[in-house]
Amino acid sequence: TALYAVFGNPIAHSRSPRIHALFAQQTGVSLRYEARLAPIDGLDAALDAFHDEGGCGANITVPFKFDAWRLCSRRSPAAQLAQAVNTIGWDEGGLWGDNTDGIGLIRDLARVLAADAHTPLQGQRLLLLGAGGAASGVLGPLITAGTRVIALWNRSADKAQALAARHSALAMQHGVDLQVVQGPPSRWADGVINATSASLGGSSLDLPEGVLHAGNWAYDMMYGAHDTPFVAQARAAGARAWDGLGMLVEQAAQSYTLWHGEAPDTAPVLATLRAEIT
Ligand code: ATR
Repeated sequence: TALYAVFGNPIAHSRSPRIHALFAQQTGVSLRYEARLAPIDGLDAALDAFHDEGGCGANITVPFKFDAWRLCSRRSPAAQLAQAVNTIGWDEGGLWGDNTDGIGLIRDLARVLAADAHTPLQGQRLLLLGAGGAASGVLGPLITAGTRVIALWNRSADKAQALAARHSALAMQHGVDLQVVQGPPSRWADGVINATSASLGGSSLDLPEGVLHAGNWAYDMMYGAHDTPFVAQARAAGARAWDGLGMLVEQAAQSYTLWHGEAPDTAPVLATLRAEIT
């Protein structure tokens, strides 16, 4: 039985083992997928030990995505742009790394926009909140998905500037107007994506009046048993809002495809997971 795992700290509440077990069941693949706690400064040693144990591949989550990026000898273009790796594997060339968070967001966002807002992602004007690991994992794929404008806002503006600078050539190439905004501007955004970790601390974001309104939509990359603070904030302002459970399932599906060469059907897995967390 092939061995896989997700490494994080904390890791106890990870849904990844459940998701990969459901994918394996669906596709008839025999595998073991475990949640592993790594010490904050110990990803390198934890991965070596895991590989010695027979580990074939792993997902990497908070706070290790940058560490994983450093450790890989080969990185996909997505991982390279994000400077973050959430999927690793070993082959003859050593440790390779990819980042499936962006494709996960794009797939789920395109799905909910089509189903609930009858809008394609193409041509949308976006406000992306945050400039940490989560935001950097998705900015490149948002640019190449055919959006029109992406404004970055972050509590610490210098991080948003650095993130924008790293993506400016890609944005130019795709005709996307990529900007950094100091205070989120009112009303103009078609959609607002929360890539901050504010709701982990249970807090909502201090957004100016009018950023979220009845005419736009909101997507929280976080998820939970109940509405996240950002989803609640958006709905209270009249916006359509979705949480990131679908993104979690889609990024897992892309990792699964990289490892096993077969794409699972995500819809029934998302439905199962939604029923289980609420
Ligand atoms: P992650 O990997 O989840 O992105 P991170 O790299 O630590 O974690 O980034 C956290 C992001 O959430 C940052 O953009 C952070 O803003 P700063 O760069 O100013 O620290 C943002 N964030 C966290 N708590 C926040 C809060 N209460 N209000 C606004 N932004 C917050």
